[in-house]
Amino acid sequence: MADETFSSDWLALREPADHRSRSTDLIAPLAEWWAARTGRHVLDLGSGTGSNLRYLAPRLPGEQAWTLVDRDAALLDRATSAGVTSPGVGRVEPDSETVPEGLGSGTVPGRSGSGAVPRGHDSGAVPTGVGSEVVALECVVGELDPEGLVRVPEADLVTASALLDLVTHQWLERLVEACRAAGNAALLSLTWDGTMTWGHPDRNDHPAADAEKPADGLVAEAVRDHQLRDKGMGPALGPAAGPAAEEAFRAAGYDTWLLSSPWRLGAGDGLLARALIDGWVAAASEERPADAQLIRDWAERRRASTSTGFTLEVGHVDLLALPPGPVDG
Ligand SMILES: C[S@@+](CC[C@H](N)C(=O)[O-])C[C@H]1O[C@@H](n2cnc3c(N)ncnc32)[C@H](O)[C@@H]1O
Repeated sequence: MADETFSSDWLALREPADHRSRSTDLIAPLAEWWAARTGRHVLDLGSGTGSNLRYLAPRLPGEQAWTLVDRDAALLDRATSAGVTSPGVGRVEPDSETVPEGLGSGTVPGRSGSGAVPRGHDSGAVPTGVGSEVVALECVVGELDPEGLVRVPEADLVTASALLDLVTHQWLERLVEACRAAGNAALLSLTWDGTMTWGHPDRNDHPAADAEKPADGLVAEAVRDHQLRDKGMGPALGPAAGPAAEEAFRAAGYDTWLLSSPWRLGAGDGLLARALIDGWVAAASEERPADAQLIRDWAERRRASTSTGFTLEVGHVDLLALPPGPVDG
């Protein structure tokens, strides 16, 4: 078992697709809950370079103190420096497509900054006339357990993006119990649902598309199986994570919404699609060594298709869980 690592290049490449795919329907109820809450602390678990912060902070009204937890100090260092315009002032730009280079100020663990956050682009996401401001930003190098879980009681909102399919069922249960005890809300976004669906922009029923379906299916199944491997915490939930999290929060008495947030890729997303293919080939070949040649051939054809016209839907789900009863804290 080895800890899975994620490069900052990969996270920067996926960030625009992540941001445009997230379910905006969940933002209004969360923003309403947040506005009524007196506490102002957001805990972002497995934050990477801070994509979730860049998306969510401008969409939540009012002052916010964010804590980012990730095991990868290099990613966190970039998160802290993203959008920083002068030392000690953290300014979060919504939907920035690239993560600026670090300022070299040695920001982990526990550095903080403050400053204004511009309003988000979503219509109606933030109540009119209410600004958003990140007044403190703390980065903690550590594991989801213990460093992540021990910070849940101090938080009002616990969030994560592109994380849940990596965690174990046991960790999820402990997260839900910690949220329940603290009366926290949770927004867990962009959990892969196990699907990847290829097509062509104007000829989905073409015989060539049908011919690829068996190999598409084999690769998808192998990647799903690979996703269940131990990512450093024990066997991962993989594509079951979204529904499992909804069930756990419901059992804890929460109101939940589980909505789809698929990446819909096509012309203009070739780089991202080819990076996905590279990752899928590696995972599928490791999972099905006997089919390695077939998988490589599939990858070659799919890479070629990203230059000649393709569509690719990668299924994700976003979960919002709001605690029962009147908002307090
Ligand atoms: C797919 S990336 C998502 C990063 C970020 N949330 C985003 O949306 O771009 C998963 C992140 O979780 C972190 N991670 C995975 N397992 C972890 C663990 N057990 N403890 C702490 N961080 C972990 C990785 O280092 C990585 O930054």
